[in-house]
Amino acid sequence: MTTKRITNDPFRIVVFGSDGDLSYRKIFPALYHRMNDGQIGVDVKILAASRTERTQEEYIATLSTYLNQYISKPNKKILGQLFNATTHFCFKGEEEDVVKEGLQNWFKGSSDQVRIFYLATPATAFGPISDMLLRYELINDLSRIVLEKPLGKDLESSEETNATVANYFREDQIYRIDHYLGKETVQNLMVLRFANNLFERTWNAQHIDNVQITVAESIGVAGRGGYYDSSGALKDMVQNHLLQLLCLIAMEPPLHLNADEVRDEKLKVLKALRPYDKNNIHSCTVKGQYTRGSSKDGQLPSYLEDIEKYNSKTETFVALKAYVDNWRWGGIPFYLRTGKRMPHRYSEININFKPVPHNIFPEKKDIKNNRLTIRLQPEERIELLQMVKVPGPGGYRYKPISLELDYSDHFEDRFPDAYERLLMDVVRGNQTLFMRRDEVKASWKWVDTIFNQWNNENIANSLYQAGSWGPGDQILDVNHKWEMSRHVEQIQLEQDESGKK
Ligand code: BG6
Repeated sequence: MTTKRITNDPFRIVVFGSDGDLSYRKIFPALYHRMNDGQIGVDVKILAASRTERTQEEYIATLSTYLNQYISKPNKKILGQLFNATTHFCFKGEEEDVVKEGLQNWFKGSSDQVRIFYLATPATAFGPISDMLLRYELINDLSRIVLEKPLGKDLESSEETNATVANYFREDQIYRIDHYLGKETVQNLMVLRFANNLFERTWNAQHIDNVQITVAESIGVAGRGGYYDSSGALKDMVQNHLLQLLCLIAMEPPLHLNADEVRDEKLKVLKALRPYDKNNIHSCTVKGQYTRGSSKDGQLPSYLEDIEKYNSKTETFVALKAYVDNWRWGGIPFYLRTGKRMPHRYSEININFKPVPHNIFPEKKDIKNNRLTIRLQPEERIELLQMVKVPGPGGYRYKPISLELDYSDHFEDRFPDAYERLLMDVVRGNQTLFMRRDEVKASWKWVDTIFNQWNNENIANSLYQAGSWGPGDQILDVNHKWEMSRHVEQIQLEQDESGKK
């Protein structure tokens, strides 16, 4: 099945931080793919703004090297179109007047076009850049600003950042990116829940035993040690990506699929999250840090060696037992887990249903609970674990078997990267997949309770070996029920088997 694409009206986009990893790895490849699919026409104009002094030719040559690395089998014609549309602009060390004139000239003749300011920069630059745009009279009604995470490091600093940007842009012009919301499979959660009557009827505390959300990464800090060490797994992953997944699982059906109605429902979930205090911080949270270990490819360094800072207390693993204290979810634990240097990269949501109320079968053999697994990455699939009768005469033998839906069996299209969808939504002015200011505030408010209690109670990291599934025996209820779909179990089994040979 292939999808029809509609070409957007011409627009202008300025990428601040155009010489950074995010621009080369995500933003420009996203622009390329949308051009290749005909959603962006040749009349788009891109300004690659950075502080790096380079000629136009030098910038395009660097961009070309990265795109050839990050795009598989790039189409030369489309690359050429993208390069033609891109102008490099260096504003380092230039006189204010020169920068102003340069930017104003670039926008000339485009007053009827959407103009996007994409800030792929640290949050400290959001205020100064917004201020510059205002002074140069570049902000109009059709302007939109895109903000990358991290939006602060706690409630206070995130509120400060949001308040600063609000001095220059209205909330309906601000697009706060959480790239998890742009993932196809994450959006599919909405369809799975709200376009299937089957699940919604049982989607509550009466029928569900627990929900488990796991984002396991095999990579370490991958050259981002400086940033990561000031953040840690809680702020880098839980505050945004895992909480957004939790919201999509736990929210009430919105009346319509518009930005505010969806975000209103997510906000209610965030506000219903039970805060942590000294009574539950020990029993319901775990933080860990990886030590030296190994993978099938060889030895792995410890986190401290990775960042070359030997006294860091930053966590690279978090497991939480969280509760959404509302009518639908009262008393049902949501287990959230994320960690670096795990054996495989996979993100998965497991909905574990309650057991049948009574076993009528004479053998009284264990009846496995139904489990709905939503695999988000690396491959996209849905599994429903159910009990079936084992064929044969006499008696009732039964066993659990998964019904499996593999997306790649049904859809031929390449799965677009999250940034492609999100960028097109900015162009079209659709904020549904972007975080509203009050959502960011509510999630930080909850995350702050964890972080503050960790500090108040002097909770230390549990250590785990790189290449393992995180701290093991030390962590009790929070982690012992770690479910894995059949697929992950299979990979694990194959690895164990090959290790034995
Ligand atoms: C980013 C985090 O937001 O998400 C990274 O800063 C993390 O530390 C990444 O590796 C994970 O994203 P994905 O799309 O690879 O799951």
